[in-house]
Amino acid sequence: MTHTASLTSTWQSPSNLAIVKYWGKKNIQEPVNPSVSFSLSQAFTRTSVNLTPKEGGGFSFKLDQQPVPKFENKIETFFKAARPRLPIIENYYFDIESTNTFPHSTGIASSASAMSALAFCLADLQQQVDGKKDLDITEVSSLARIGSGSASRSVYGSWSLWGRMSELPESSDIYAIPVPADIAPVFRNLHDDILIVSSQDKPVSSTQGHKLMDNHPYREGRISQARQNTLTLLKHLSSGSFEGFAEIAESEALSLHGLMMSSTPPYTLLLPNTLSIIEKIKDFRNRKDIPVTFTMDAGPNIHLLYPDEFSKEIAEWEEKEIKPFCANGRIIRDQVGRGPKKGIATKN
Ligand code: PMV
Repeated sequence: MTHTASLTSTWQSPSNLAIVKYWGKKNIQEPVNPSVSFSLSQAFTRTSVNLTPKEGGGFSFKLDQQPVPKFENKIETFFKAARPRLPIIENYYFDIESTNTFPHSTGIASSASAMSALAFCLADLQQQVDGKKDLDITEVSSLARIGSGSASRSVYGSWSLWGRMSELPESSDIYAIPVPADIAPVFRNLHDDILIVSSQDKPVSSTQGHKLMDNHPYREGRISQARQNTLTLLKHLSSGSFEGFAEIAESEALSLHGLMMSSTPPYTLLLPNTLSIIEKIKDFRNRKDIPVTFTMDAGPNIHLLYPDEFSKEIAEWEEKEIKPFCANGRIIRDQVGRGPKKGIATKN
């Protein structure tokens, strides 16, 4: 049955930061290894989708009121893949409008927030058309995954896990779940300061990077490393061991970049200032005995991670010693967030 009126759904959904990294895919955007991340508090996408009946479907997309052809292609691919689960795609036209609270190319995964916000809107609209009420969050996560793998983890607040682990019966390659462990207070409001070393476009995209894992010489070793790191990380998240957490965070960040350097062809996204900042962090930690660690995604920027109670000392140190290594002195401050929120939906 096709509704004659138009329907709207608005959602805001966060980006997330992985500590155990998803790197390499199989099937339709399923991960070769488990990953663990937390949702950010300030960095999110707000998306409104308005749907009107139209045989054969179609969509328009605007980011900050401007069309962006690069993203239109991504949405096109997403719509094709999502069609079997969302019958509305056949019979309605979608006006999609998005805004991000954070700038592009800063090491914040905009695809995670964008695709999860869109997945919420589409799942919600399908429910409205079907006259149903409650959203199935694992279905939204699975839908978001089709758009961008890491987006599957953005559908929850706090910490999420994506990828099947035989030790964790609730886990799945198809959707993310909330981390199946109590999270110690120190990790419930962990800080993430994004130290912008460069905001230039990356020479090798994550899509290409994932592909290079297909025939990577260290593929099997990487899969078992990520599994082990996931189990150990869950223990540290529960016990509150920052030291243990820092070991995993740094091992995962540097392993990710090591995998890039040992791909065929090899490449690196690290820049001289990335390494200078890593040295500075280690020096500060040793001198001051302050718990601070870092991770990196597939790019040159550093995510500085630390407990809330050290914010003041860390801000002073960043101002003096870290800002000179950041492009235009840029640092974006964020923290563990509470997850997606539904906006006000209007019905015509
Ligand atoms: O979801 P994608 O395809 O953008 O891949 C994300 C990959 C990393 O950010 C490097 C790691 C992760 O788990 O988020």
